[in-house]
Amino acid sequence: MKGVILAGGNGTRLHPITLGASKQLLPVYDKPLIYYPLSVLMLAGITDIQIITAPDEAQAFHRLLGDGSWLGISLTYAEQDEPRGLADAFLVSADHIGGDSVALVLGDNIFHGYEFGPMLQRLSEDVRGCFLFGYPVRDPERYGVGVLDERNELVAIEEKPARPRSNMAITGLYLYDHKVVDFARGLRPSARGELEITDLNRIYLERGEATLIPLGRGFVWLDAGTHDALIDAGNYVQVLEHRQGVRIACLEEIAWRMGYIDRETCYDLGSRLATSPYGRYIMETAEAW
Ligand code: G1P
Repeated sequence: MKGVILAGGNGTRLHPITLGASKQLLPVYDKPLIYYPLSVLMLAGITDIQIITAPDEAQAFHRLLGDGSWLGISLTYAEQDEPRGLADAFLVSADHIGGDSVALVLGDNIFHGYEFGPMLQRLSEDVRGCFLFGYPVRDPERYGVGVLDERNELVAIEEKPARPRSNMAITGLYLYDHKVVDFARGLRPSARGELEITDLNRIYLERGEATLIPLGRGFVWLDAGTHDALIDAGNYVQVLEHRQGVRIACLEEIAWRMGYIDRETCYDLGSRLATSPYGRYIMETAEAW
C-alpha cells in the first residue's frame, strides 16, 4: 500500500501565520504538525509515501524530512499548483500510487489512540473498496458526515451539511483500493470548484464498497486548521507527554519500533538533537531497551 499526505492549500484560516510558513510545518507543542499524520502512516506499516505541497513549498518540507531514508522509509514530493480539492490528490499522485491501494491522510489531522497502528495494519492488508473513519463530534456541520443505519452500515455521506443527520464526522484518513485513481479521474468539480473527497467516497458507497469504521470515545482525533484548534492540539500533546513521559508521533522512535531502522541508528538520530528534550527522549528511549 502507498501513502499520500496532503499538505497543500493556502492555510487561509490561519493567516497571518501561514503567510510565511506552511500550516503543516507549524509547531504542535514539540514537533511540526506533519509529524503526526506521517506517524500514522508509518504505524500502519506504510513506507512509500508522497507528500503533496503547495507550489514552491516542497523545499521546506524536504529540508525537514529529506528523502525519508534516515527513517528507513521513502518520501517523495509533489506540488499541487492550486488547491483543487482533496480528491485532486489522486490525480497529482497518480504515478506514485500506480496500480496499488493507497492511504490518504490530511496533513493537519492528528490521531491518537490505543492499538491504532495494528488496526490500520490489519485493514491495509486487504482493502476492499474504501475504509473511512468516523468520529463523534459536537459540530458535525464543519465536516464530512456519515449516516449509519441500525445495523451500523453506512447509508449516506454529506459534506458540511447545514442540518447534519448524525454527529459522526468523517476524519481525514482514508484507505482506498486500486480503483481510486480511475474514480478520481471521473469526478467533476463541485459548486465551489473543487474535486470533493465526499463525491469520491459516494462512488464507493453507491457500489456498496464503502465501510465506515467508528473510532470510539476513548480515541482522540484533532484537526489543527484554526488558531484555537492548533493551541488545543498543542495543549493535548503537552499534557499527555508530561503525564506519561512518552512522546506522541516521535518519528525516530516509531521507525525503530516498526523495524525500519535499528536501535543504534535511532540513538544516533536522537544524539543529533541532543540539545532539545525531544532529542534526549529518543536517546533515553533507545538506551533503555
Ligand atoms: C475536509 C473534508 C471533510 C473532512 C475533513 C476532515 O474538510 O472535506 O469531509 O471531514 O477534511 O478534516 P476541510 O477541512 O478541508 O474543510
